[in-house]
Amino acid sequence: MIAWDESLAVGVDEIDAQHQSIIALINDLATRKNQADEATTTQALHFLRNYLHDHFELETELMLDMGYPDLEAHRQQHELFVNHIIFFEIEKEFGVVSEQMLADILAFLKDWFLSHIQREDKALGRFVRTQALSG
Ligand SMILES: [Fe+2]
Ligand SMILES: [Fe+2]
Repeated sequence: MIAWDESLAVGVDEIDAQHQSIIALINDLATRKNQADEATTTQALHFLRNYLHDHFELETELMLDMGYPDLEAHRQQHELFVNHIIFFEIEKEFGVVSEQMLADILAFLKDWFLSHIQREDKALGRFVRTQALSG
């Protein structure tokens, strides 16, 4: 389980609210890990693609609006992540659906998400707050 605390706060309300929702959904999936049937796995992949797609769009729009200098590098991280999800979806297409697969997805999602918040999203949050102070 991932517990939300201030060490994960980026300092931009809308982004933090979405990060909290994403963490809640990851935790929910983790509690259902042992019923790793096809529906659960499909739901996991669906969630990843849709919710994160919207979340990445929000961050990209913010970066564009603010003329964020590291936009390309940050967006590339998002793309790498989406590619990973597509890889999971292909595995599923070929029938490799198992408890192990859901465990892999969850482990990957947790690791990626937490380190992305700590690095790229926090750097973006600092930039937004600095701009707000100087503007
Ligand atoms: Fe991000
Ligand atoms: Fe984010």
